[in-house]
Amino acid sequence: MKKKYLYSIFLLIMTHEASMAQQQITIETKRNVLVLSTDADHALVSSYFGKKIANKSEYPVIPTLDKYLPGSDDLYNKREAYVASGSVNLLEPALSVTHADGNKSTVLSFQSFKETLIDNNRKLTTIVLKDPKYNFEVRLQYLAYFEEDVVEQWSEISHQEKGTVVLNKFASANLSLSGKKFYLKNQYSTAMREMRSEEQQLLHGLRTLDSKLGTRTNLLHSSSFMLSIDGPSAEDTGNIIAGSLAWTGNFRLDFETFDDYYLRITAGINNFSSNYSLKAGENFVTPKFVYTYSSNGKGLASRNLQNWARKYQLMDGAGDRATLLNNWETTYFDFNDEKLNSLVQDTKNLGVDVFLLDDGWFGNKYPRNGSTAGLGDWQFNKQKLKNGITSIGKEATTNGVKFGIWLEPEMVNPKSELYEQHPDWIIRQPERKEYYMRNQLVLDLTNKKVQDFIFNVVDETFAQVPDLAFIKWDCNSLIYNANSPTLKNQDHFYIEYVRGLNSVLERIRKKYPKVPMMLCAGGGSRVDYAALKYFTEFWPSDNTNPFDRIFIQWEYSYYFPSIAVDNHVTDMGKQPIKFKTDVAMMGKLGYDVKVHELSESDLLFSQNAVKAYNGFKEIVWHGQQYRLQDPYQHDVASISYVNDSKDQAVVFNYFMATRTTTRQALPIILKGLDANKRYKLEEINLYPGSKSPIDSSKVYSGDFLMNIGFNPEVNDRRTSVVIKISSI
Ligand code: DGJ
Repeated sequence: MKKKYLYSIFLLIMTHEASMAQQQITIETKRNVLVLSTDADHALVSSYFGKKIANKSEYPVIPTLDKYLPGSDDLYNKREAYVASGSVNLLEPALSVTHADGNKSTVLSFQSFKETLIDNNRKLTTIVLKDPKYNFEVRLQYLAYFEEDVVEQWSEISHQEKGTVVLNKFASANLSLSGKKFYLKNQYSTAMREMRSEEQQLLHGLRTLDSKLGTRTNLLHSSSFMLSIDGPSAEDTGNIIAGSLAWTGNFRLDFETFDDYYLRITAGINNFSSNYSLKAGENFVTPKFVYTYSSNGKGLASRNLQNWARKYQLMDGAGDRATLLNNWETTYFDFNDEKLNSLVQDTKNLGVDVFLLDDGWFGNKYPRNGSTAGLGDWQFNKQKLKNGITSIGKEATTNGVKFGIWLEPEMVNPKSELYEQHPDWIIRQPERKEYYMRNQLVLDLTNKKVQDFIFNVVDETFAQVPDLAFIKWDCNSLIYNANSPTLKNQDHFYIEYVRGLNSVLERIRKKYPKVPMMLCAGGGSRVDYAALKYFTEFWPSDNTNPFDRIFIQWEYSYYFPSIAVDNHVTDMGKQPIKFKTDVAMMGKLGYDVKVHELSESDLLFSQNAVKAYNGFKEIVWHGQQYRLQDPYQHDVASISYVNDSKDQAVVFNYFMATRTTTRQALPIILKGLDANKRYKLEEINLYPGSKSPIDSSKVYSGDFLMNIGFNPEVNDRRTSVVIKISSI
């Protein structure tokens, strides 16, 4: 199978030159198609996006909805595939340009297209558009992933004008849709309250979801969304587009609903404060806009993205992950060698893979004993750690435990040696008051010297702990007073910051390709698919109250696979440890508890839970996820994971009732099993001494479980229940 994928790189290249005849270009995946065509003016228009029809020869007769043409009494509206401004389009553009001669009008005419078959699952379509009056070109790129029904779309902009062209807006992609109504689901956040969901009808006009925060760009809004066409979609019904911008910086998603039947989505880097000067011969490559279409509701859309991510985007998406014990919530900044050595013992005792040392291990002139000092001074603190991180690393390995470390390399406290020595490395307005988030400022990653410094922080950490097995990469501040002390053109600041970050991450990955890295931003304020190319996982929130976490994890699952989501069992929340553990198991399990203070039975339960998790984690990490019952409307929330051969599944169920309800009466209708297979159901992860009411000797057909369902007997005394399903 692997061979099949590997054998054919660049199998087929076909170039189609422009001709006067109408061109039709189809971007196809297994179930969907985007049909683009040229019109009499040589404009590239989007004629259809949605479910495939059986007979391809009927695509050319898809009726155009462009009823308003130039000269009529109404607004001209053409569904151009990539809308430029300054000519006849007066709606929100994807591209706005000031040409070298100062002219602000751009027209894009179809020139040619090329299809490159990368392997038997991926095809890249490149469409060249040119301005007839200027030597200015846009190449639209569509990379279609057939099996996953996912398209990555981006654009490349270049010119040969006499002088510099300024890009005032430079989106990755436009998508034009028609329908009667459109419903947008997006998630909004604040620290500790990440990913709260809103879904609403898009009324006429423009709705923009964006970020101008520089770093931690998802602190207010997610850069991913779900858009339902005609009516709100449900989990398994409805036509829906799920999209996400792969960019670790300021983003902008425009949704413009106009006239009776139209919506145009424009996705790209936020052009806020970013008029980009492009020299002749330079190529501006926008980030990728990743999207999928599902005519079977949100569930399928999520699985498409999750499958695509695991196979093609997420770092080591098909691989393994390490369970861990983190010391943040158990010690905060207060620890020393002795405490850490005892935490290594706790890690071993619990049975997880890694001991992760969090914030507070560095800084000498300004010891990192709180969030106010030391950030940027990455030398181990000699008072707390007499023999440095090398010795804790060794202590861990001698005990058969791996060692991981926390870094926040993009940041600096004003109370630090780094701040004193390199004020020119810091993003700030020297003439203005400094504003801080969590008492810190952001280093200027547009500066090559800062990039080298950050790379060296990581490199030096590896020099001290060659067996380093995990990195938690934190980022607790957004950017106030945006200004680089060294960058010539401040309009490039936000873009160059992200490029600088990516270049550091590239270097790190080149030298340390395997080390698992967690993306963290004072909770989950930074997660996007571009970053996940370098990171194996992300931290969804500092809120580890398991009740809240059910919602947070539920919402992330719309876009990201469980293998990428780090969930820790902590002291937060009053629920029993079993409830906390069950919730944390729906992703990558970790702990942040005082293991030595656990009661005997809580410890025994946890040790068994780690073993049980090791037995089924494969299904959670690599299986298909089904959101069975949502936590908003049901007394019981339920999520399942089914492996690809459909012979094993795990179902997680939680009692969510907040009014007086004592039990769940109705069965849970399962999904994704094989109707013809016969299954046994067994309750797992039981607390020591408790007995399950589930009879594991009974056998059910997949058909029965997916139509009649199964009642896991969740109630106010059995508040979380995990069921393992196995075919016989
Ligand atoms: C914020 C992170 O989300 C926490 O988990 C922890 O690492 C702290 N930063 C440390 O300062």
